[in-house]
Amino acid sequence: METVLIVDDEKNYLVVLGAFLSGEGYETLTADSAQHALEIVETTDLDLVLTDMKMPTMDGIELLKRIKQKVPDLPVVMMTAYGTVEKAVEAMQLGAFNFILKPFQNETLKQVIHKAVSTYGILKENRRLVQALESRYRFDNIIGKSKPMQAIFDIILKVAHTKTTILTTGESGTGKELIAKAIHFNSPRRNKPFVAISCAALTETLLESELFGHEKGAFTGATAMKKGRFERADGGTLFLDEIGEIPVSLQVKLLRVLEEMSFERVGGTRTIAVDVRLIAATNKDLKAEVQQHRFRKDLYFRLNVVHIKLPTLRERPEDIPLLAAYFGTRFAQESNKGEITFSPEAMRFLCNHRWPGNVREFENAIERAVLFSNGQEITPDDLPKDLVSFTDLEIPIDWQKLSNLPETLDAIEKKLIQNALSLSNNVQSRAANLLGIPRANLQYRLKKYNIV
Ligand SMILES: Nc1ncnc2c1ncn2[C@@H]1O[C@H](COP(=O)(O)OP(=O)(O)OP(=O)(O)O)[C@@H](O)[C@H]1O
Ligand SMILES: [Mg+2]
Repeated sequence: METVLIVDDEKNYLVVLGAFLSGEGYETLTADSAQHALEIVETTDLDLVLTDMKMPTMDGIELLKRIKQKVPDLPVVMMTAYGTVEKAVEAMQLGAFNFILKPFQNETLKQVIHKAVSTYGILKENRRLVQALESRYRFDNIIGKSKPMQAIFDIILKVAHTKTTILTTGESGTGKELIAKAIHFNSPRRNKPFVAISCAALTETLLESELFGHEKGAFTGATAMKKGRFERADGGTLFLDEIGEIPVSLQVKLLRVLEEMSFERVGGTRTIAVDVRLIAATNKDLKAEVQQHRFRKDLYFRLNVVHIKLPTLRERPEDIPLLAAYFGTRFAQESNKGEITFSPEAMRFLCNHRWPGNVREFENAIERAVLFSNGQEITPDDLPKDLVSFTDLEIPIDWQKLSNLPETLDAIEKKLIQNALSLSNNVQSRAANLLGIPRANLQYRLKKYNIV
């Protein structure tokens, strides 16, 4: 329950307003002077101050100034009589949330207070999330309070100080490289190189020479000796990305190197020994690749000593508000914007999207939203237009029994409309926007399908 402090020197007013706001579901406190109000502000966790402007000894403006010094973000709404509008303008400049002219309708008061309290609520929730990020929901730059992420934090802690080979798997953008770096930088090897190489981008010959290096004259164009990634990673960590793409013939060679931790450069005869910790990553199902004989079983077992399987973002929706706060704060700082919050509607969009590109896609969406937002609050208008992908919606249709085309299409249409409404918080104009139809058209369909 939100707590509202009402300040007025007229006791009748306190009684009437107190009763009204209690009836609206607020916890109410009252003060009949600004001095008394300040004492309460200092000792109580408030959500709003509603204060009269004209009071003896200390007036509303002075009270506002002092509150802003003590609790800068606490919203203050001024009540002001007709004829003191200049004062109201001054109050707004001093940081009042809003003002209402006396005498006012209860409905007006209700709306102003609701807006102030909910805006402050979002701000506080955002701070809570940012604070949570400093605790157990964060491991280096990896964010996650969900069970699978917490389990991954545990694994990292257990394996970081060892030399164990690690296989990280997961869809694109789930954080495989991030995890690899976290392991490296939490290991005794942190001051030695972290060397990454993608096995996908290169031809077999080039990949071999990239991994193991080559001697001068080893092949046409090898004009000088070149050290490979294994050598450069000596003492540190080698991250073999997209290991599922490595050609079978190289797999044999890699296995030998991993077992002996020594190799020869391409075109060379001298055996070079290294001390390298290996982390491999893939978004392929390596087990299936083994069954299809595209990946060697023995290499698979050699790599899969510890397996870290990263969850997709849609498998851990509870992490989305946390990630939003994390990236929101980071990009706001980078672009010199103040504190950024997300409107409940925007947050709903973020939570409902399927994020096929996982955290990478999410991160980009937030960066763009922060850049393009006009104010401190991210709204759905700041988010990418394709955020709601209707093709992913589950539609309850029994494909076997499909007989009547118009009826089936109607069922699909009804489902799409209901989803659009729920995603847009029942704001019809926005739902119509999402569906790409004029609002009148939507209203016609709401009637047709009897959707309330
Ligand atoms: N849990 C997380 N918390 C914070 N940021 C994350 C998290 N997971 C991923 N990221 C960020 O998302 C982006 C993509 O992560 P990363 O490059 O590690 O993914 P990947 O699994 O290697 O993807 P790909 O398979 O496409 O190479 C990076 O900017 C990374 O910092
Ligand atoms: Mg990667």
